[in-house]
Amino acid sequence: MKKYKIASLFSGIGGIDLGFLKAGADSIWANEIDPYCAVTFNANHPNINLVVDDICNIKGKDIPAIDILTGGFPCQPFSIAGYRKGFEDERGNMFFQIMRIVNELEENNNKPRIIFLENVKNLKTHDKGNTFVVIKRVLEEHGYIVEEKIMNTSEYGNLPQNRERIFILGFLNAKDQKNFEWPNKINLTTSIEDVVDWNAKVKSKYIYENDKKCYPLLKENINETKTIYQYRRVYVRANKSGVCPTLTANMGMGGHNVPLILNNDGKIRKLLPIECLRLQGFPRNFIVPSELSDSRIYKQVGNAVSVSVIKRVAEKIIEAMRKTDKNADY
Ligand SMILES: C[S@@+](CC[C@H](N)C(=O)[O-])C[C@H]1O[C@@H](n2cnc3c(N)ncnc32)[C@H](O)[C@@H]1O
Repeated sequence: MKKYKIASLFSGIGGIDLGFLKAGADSIWANEIDPYCAVTFNANHPNINLVVDDICNIKGKDIPAIDILTGGFPCQPFSIAGYRKGFEDERGNMFFQIMRIVNELEENNNKPRIIFLENVKNLKTHDKGNTFVVIKRVLEEHGYIVEEKIMNTSEYGNLPQNRERIFILGFLNAKDQKNFEWPNKINLTTSIEDVVDWNAKVKSKYIYENDKKCYPLLKENINETKTIYQYRRVYVRANKSGVCPTLTANMGMGGHNVPLILNNDGKIRKLLPIECLRLQGFPRNFIVPSELSDSRIYKQVGNAVSVSVIKRVAEKIIEAMRKTDKNADY
């Protein structure tokens, strides 16, 4: 069966690639500016051609023939007024960089049949709604039919993490859009105990002890196992719902942004990088390069996507494309 080819922009450690690969697509090319992300990406995706560079230097002609272009792009403010003045005014904006590449792909007869974008839920209300209005309008002006949906990892990805993200799809072919339907909610059967190991023997760097100023506050509040806690400067919050709060890139900023637990040995500790990866749906054999510091890994995981959610959307996209192609053969 034909494997649809994808290229990913802002590829990070390749969470979107992994989701599409698991759904049966072929990820062949990627771009990412951060060399530390590239270390993790290359360790796990040796067959994908990753170009480590600023997207501003990427030309459409550099990208091989693809069906799907993906991007979990950084969200920045931009205005309709700025957009109307032309792309030049908005050169620094990452969404417009994606669309510049789409234009260049079109010039090379390689216009993606599907555009898949992922972002924080707040993109929809960002800059009083302007950001989303512009994104939708620009995609439509390029000939795409746009669909968007906000999905929570705990409802759509069978992972115990509360993570709401917006997924924006552009369909060049009306039949693909007609054949497409978003995945349904599914039961959450994976528990935090499946991804967090309360019996783990961990290195001292993950443990909070008496020598830390915040220890008395943590000790007083972190008193139950099988619960994930967040420490926020002056208070500690227990997540009673049985899911982990959203893992964010600021876990990599040192401090106390990594969720905490009470280990079975009575020690208060941070979630381990591999536990955070599991909470994002990365497989147990995902390689964590030993040359990278924990802060880098935490940041990469917080910036990544929930692989199982991507896989479910990707399956629906591929199903729609196959249906269109099958009917076209008659
Ligand atoms: C939200 S993260 C996407 C992560 C990815 N979806 C994953 O699963 O790991 C955005 C990524 O865009 C990258 N980025 C930011 N500015 C960039 C630029 N000018 N050119 C290329 N990549 C850039 C960041 O380094 C970051 O890895």
